[in-house]
Amino acid sequence: MSEEVDQSKRRFLVGMTAATGAVGAAAIAVPFVKSMLPSARAQAAGASVEYDISKLQPGELITVKWRKKPVWILKRTDQNLADLASLEAKLTDSTSDGSKQPDYAKNEHRSRAENKNLLVMVGICTHLGCSPKHFPDLAPAGFEEGWVGGFYCPCHGSTFDLAGRVYKGAPAPSNLEIPKFKFLNETTILVGDDSEGTA
Ligand code: FES
Repeated sequence: MSEEVDQSKRRFLVGMTAATGAVGAAAIAVPFVKSMLPSARAQAAGASVEYDISKLQPGELITVKWRKKPVWILKRTDQNLADLASLEAKLTDSTSDGSKQPDYAKNEHRSRAENKNLLVMVGICTHLGCSPKHFPDLAPAGFEEGWVGGFYCPCHGSTFDLAGRVYKGAPAPSNLEIPKFKFLNETTILVGDDSEGTA
């Protein structure tokens, strides 16, 4: 009998300890969750993303997340830029008249004049939303000769050049989207914000 009492007392004490631990953990967790909320909200609202491009090598592409979308930052080589000029006849919208980009990126390179080599682009296919892959050298299987680097969407075979301009015959109706962005200085860019005088 006394052993039974002791057992139930022990279970009670163990239960209390676990409950106290859980309450303590919850009490600790709340401030963390609270402190994370504004940034989550800001992200959802489209907060801009800062990125240091000083370590980016020629030809290197990195992906950052902006408004839950992948945004590519690609440091194109001078040869890449020279190649763009030779592609016009092969493209659906070489002048980007029917494509989405800020005015300052509506040019052959689809970049800002301060740094033409840097491409900042939303990595989502304008056909049905798949994510194209970067093919800097080798042509995607079955693609024509003379590939000078670009992007290939495996879902239905759309191909884009290194300015995100879609090749003729692809199902994607327009070029890949260029988001608004600006340079905060020579080595830092801000994706999602191109307003004057803010950082
Ligand atoms: S979603 Fe890219 S080609 Fe269809």
